[in-house]
Amino acid sequence: MFQFKQFIKSILLILRLPFLRIFSTTFFLSAFFYSIFSRAFWREFNSVLRGRYLYLKRLHEKSENVFLLRRNVHRLEKGLLMRPRRPVFGLKYIEELVNVYERLVSKDLENDESIVDQLIWARDVLTKYFSVVENNTIVSNCRNQFEKIDIAFGSKEKKIPFNQPSKEPPVQYDQFFKLTKNRRSVRWFLPKPVPREMIDRAILAAVQSPSSCNRLPYEFRVIDDEKMVKEVSTIPMGTKGFSDNIPVIIAVVGHLDAFFNERDRHLIYIDASLASMAMVLSFETMGLSTCCLNWPDIPKREKKISKALNLERKNRVIMFMAVGWADPEGKVAYSEKKPLGVIRKYN
Ligand SMILES: Cc1cc2nc3c(=O)[nH]c(=O)nc-3n(C[C@H](O)[C@H](O)[C@H](O)COP(=O)(O)O)c2cc1C
Repeated sequence: MFQFKQFIKSILLILRLPFLRIFSTTFFLSAFFYSIFSRAFWREFNSVLRGRYLYLKRLHEKSENVFLLRRNVHRLEKGLLMRPRRPVFGLKYIEELVNVYERLVSKDLENDESIVDQLIWARDVLTKYFSVVENNTIVSNCRNQFEKIDIAFGSKEKKIPFNQPSKEPPVQYDQFFKLTKNRRSVRWFLPKPVPREMIDRAILAAVQSPSSCNRLPYEFRVIDDEKMVKEVSTIPMGTKGFSDNIPVIIAVVGHLDAFFNERDRHLIYIDASLASMAMVLSFETMGLSTCCLNWPDIPKREKKISKALNLERKNRVIMFMAVGWADPEGKVAYSEKKPLGVIRKYN
């Protein structure tokens, strides 16, 4: 029986290459392959579609959509800082923006810490926009609508495009290079708690990272409860052998309902990775160490993690990160990097 199984396996291995060659020749055959012979992309299809649906549903219902607010305020800011600034801009989305702003303000979210600063930003940018844009029917209608929306909170600074004063960089290259070079993936940690305040500081630095249209379509799910860390840290595959001593594990989770179109489906990975790197380096500045952990797209594991973290279908896990105080007795890999001449090409 065993020999028969081995025989079938070896036949399949022989057939695999010509099979893949044929199905990779055209888009249609590839789509056919992934519809019939492999379900590897099905969860991703489903999440992308679910995210799109939720985004468009909120748009249709004119309901709260913080991603829509953020993207459109960002577009207005870009219009405001354009050189030369066009006399009329933003007509394609100003109505959408004022609607979503009105909706969010009327939801009585004013005292909700999660939205208040974003509403102040939106208000300030909209005020500036209406003070400079040339009048026409759309602008005039939107201005009238906007002026009736009352928000009773202010801020010290105006949250609008500004001239950056020329300044000394707060960190010199040599120091920064040292920080990057000293960082290594650490897999052995001391059994010492990581203060939440440090984790929050790292996250505050992470969200300063660039993000497409300033959407920030991700969140960090920090797990520091011992029992939960034990459960979660065994779910990604790459923690075998050291999952037991991870003190804190962070799941980086993308939100696909930030996008109205499939063309943007990769942005959760790009934006979250940029933020994650900033987080890694800020942990380093505090003396903490990290190990990024791969998230394998395997159905059984996806199911487990969705349950453990109570994820929705619009969510995709991007990666995990182990965080803790490095055990000085534990080794790190040398991890030689590629030389400059190989990794860099000009023009
Ligand atoms: C996306 C990503 C996934 C990773 N997954 C794992 C993992 O599952 N297990 C692990 O031990 N290390 C993992 N690592 C760490 C890499 O092995 C490590 O970054 C690489 O070998 C270079 O070593 P260095 O980080 O010490 O410079 C991952 C790193 C990244 C960026």
